[in-house]
Amino acid sequence: MTDDPFSAPFGSLFGDKMTVARLDDGVYSYPGEAQPFENFSMHPGAHVLHYASACFEGLKAHRQSDGTLAIFRLDDHVARMVNSIDQIQVPVPDPALIRSLILDSVEANASFTPEPPGSLYIRPTFIGTTPNIGAAASPADEGLLYVLCSPVGDYFAGGIRPLTIYVETKTPRTTPQFGMVKSGANYVMALGPTLDAKRDHGADQVLFATGDDTTETGASNFFLVDDDTVITRQLDETFLHGITRDSVVTMAQDLGYKVEERPISAGELGEWAGHGELFLSGTAAVIAPVGTVVVGGASVMVGDGQPGANTLRIRDALTDLLIGDAPDPHGWRTPVAG
Ligand SMILES: Cc1ncc(COP(=O)(O)O)c(C=O)c1O
Repeated sequence: MTDDPFSAPFGSLFGDKMTVARLDDGVYSYPGEAQPFENFSMHPGAHVLHYASACFEGLKAHRQSDGTLAIFRLDDHVARMVNSIDQIQVPVPDPALIRSLILDSVEANASFTPEPPGSLYIRPTFIGTTPNIGAAASPADEGLLYVLCSPVGDYFAGGIRPLTIYVETKTPRTTPQFGMVKSGANYVMALGPTLDAKRDHGADQVLFATGDDTTETGASNFFLVDDDTVITRQLDETFLHGITRDSVVTMAQDLGYKVEERPISAGELGEWAGHGELFLSGTAAVIAPVGTVVVGGASVMVGDGQPGANTLRIRDALTDLLIGDAPDPHGWRTPVAG
């Protein structure tokens, strides 16, 4: 297998260190430094393996144009991880602990960071390890909180290429009360509809529009844009509050676009494709242009099917910010040694 992050599948390579804190009797303990990357040994009756007591985060460290390293929106990702841990009913760690686990893991794996457009993808994870297969109705009280680092190239093989999106109006991605939780169970629930859409429509992603209310794909938020306006779904508890989404909303305002956060029907997506642009946003995907929308049984080309000028403008502005080629007016970059 290749160890080149630009040809290896996204997320399949790892640094050689990790940070691990243990949860025992409601208390987290962390030795205070990274350890060698190694397998865990776990009881086959561990809570996570039966009752899905797991959640995670995804953020990135980028090599800056001056050679330093910086993590993008560290504290926002820490806050979202805290919320996810709370929602799986596990004792919530001090946010400062999650922050230290991330910083120490990135520092220890810094030499694995590829040059842009590559980055070091960071994966904070919690798993419940209580060995009790009778504990379906009680939360895990033992667990591991750990941070892996993975050198990555492009999320979508082929770099910036227009994606095909299938709009799913019947099957939901997950349950509404778990929409904001970055829990593994959500992703496995979205897998069936995603594989169906790949097979039947050549789709790269499914955009979930349950009950004609378009929210997000299996791994990203979505935007409509034209020369004047940027539109995305208003926040509520039914979908993940993307940190890239928030960055795009803020940056679009800075760039002079009018920003609308409101409901978007599947019909509006099809209509918008006739005159505007569509793109997806996420830490892994960054900004991914959509070239074709399959909606209501029809395949609709977005513009001329190629990445639009506004999508590329927003993507370039975000990329410049990620890699330190633009000022950081909102304080989104956290420097890390290495
Ligand atoms: C379901 C889902 N929606 C949206 C996003 C985008 O979130 P972010 O921009 O914070 O990566 C992700 C990626 O983490 C996701 O998994």
